[in-house]
Amino acid sequence: MSTSYQAIGWNRQKKIYDRIIFGFCVTYLSIFISSNLIFNAQVTFETLLIRSTSTLAVLLLHVILSIGPLTRLNKKFLPLLYNRRHLGVTMFFIAAIHGLFSIVQFHSLGSVNPLVSLFTSNTRFDSLPGFPFQALGFFALVIFFLMAITSHDFWLHNLSPKVWKTLHMFVYAAYFLVILHVMLGVIQFETNPVFVIILFVGTTTLIALHVLAGTREVHIDNIKFDLETDGFVKVCDVEDIEEDRAKMFCIGKERIAVYKIQGKLFAVNNVCKHQNGPLGEGKVLDGCITCPWHGYQYLPHNGQSPPPFKERVSTYDVMIDGTTVWVSPKPYPEGTERQGAIIAISSPVDKKNSETLILK
Ligand code: HEM
Ligand code: FES
Repeated sequence: MSTSYQAIGWNRQKKIYDRIIFGFCVTYLSIFISSNLIFNAQVTFETLLIRSTSTLAVLLLHVILSIGPLTRLNKKFLPLLYNRRHLGVTMFFIAAIHGLFSIVQFHSLGSVNPLVSLFTSNTRFDSLPGFPFQALGFFALVIFFLMAITSHDFWLHNLSPKVWKTLHMFVYAAYFLVILHVMLGVIQFETNPVFVIILFVGTTTLIALHVLAGTREVHIDNIKFDLETDGFVKVCDVEDIEEDRAKMFCIGKERIAVYKIQGKLFAVNNVCKHQNGPLGEGKVLDGCITCPWHGYQYLPHNGQSPPPFKERVSTYDVMIDGTTVWVSPKPYPEGTERQGAIIAISSPVDKKNSETLILK
């Protein structure tokens, strides 16, 4: 959460995470290079560099794209999401080494400018086995570059979360380009089917994870709340919500997170102002609703980020009748103060904090 440009602050968790990424990359490259040297002594340094970095970049790309659906399916993966941008920038640098060395290796020895040669040395667009696959890799690399240079929150604020998010959705276009780049390239220089098999497993795993997570989201969105009284919708029982946690409800077009905090229920919009993270999957830290993705915070009673931050989300009315929770899906303007609903004595935990019961 920043009000102006701030250099990246490396906290302990980020440092550990970066060391793991670095250790993984070094281990992968060492194993790849040494096993190639053992089994294929004729291999050149350039080929080794091009192949080890390209396969590592593709592996990291699969991990990056798996993190989103994995966190939707299991909250244990949230630390990966929190640090995903470091992984993305690392992947870009590794892919850039591959691209750069490929251009040097295959396009720098002639009289034509290497970049011009990349697009003009092969123009067999009508041939599948001879397709100029390198251009596809180039366009994927451009997308990764744009994502890497705009990954800091400074750009998120300046471009607006909507534009930033749209730009970053292009990662799927880049993934598609990479798959075509590898498949059409492999046809030209590789007889071993292992590349195709690995890619097939990677792609199907990614598709399966996205379908699974998507189905779960759609299921939550499609829960019907038709018991309406005076504009309020019956959503759940007080006991269904854990202390300092929330339950998320999609009522009409509104995604609402209902939090239980110190004997009260508060309802705020579920969509975080940072990158649309699900506030209802977060928890209460220091009295604030804390987004599970990157830790943006909001005060439960008014949806405002604590000063000096300026983010705000909508608030909603919530009521308790007996032990039943009712929510009004009509949003108040972002940052509007709401008193919340006081939980009546119903469980030993709630007993401590409860006052009176708010009825409809
Ligand atoms: C300027 C951009 C790029 C150029 C010029 C380029 C060029 C090449 C070339 C010439 C090959 C065949 C290498 C060989 O004979 O072994 C290749 C293969 C490959 N490329 Fe790229 N590439 C680019 C971008 C990318 C990107 C962005 C990725 C993925 C993130 C990628 C992933 C791969 C993979 C996995 C292979 C197959 C394994 C290999 O042989 O290296 N490439 N690329
Ligand atoms: S989406 Fe990043 S903090 Fe909420």
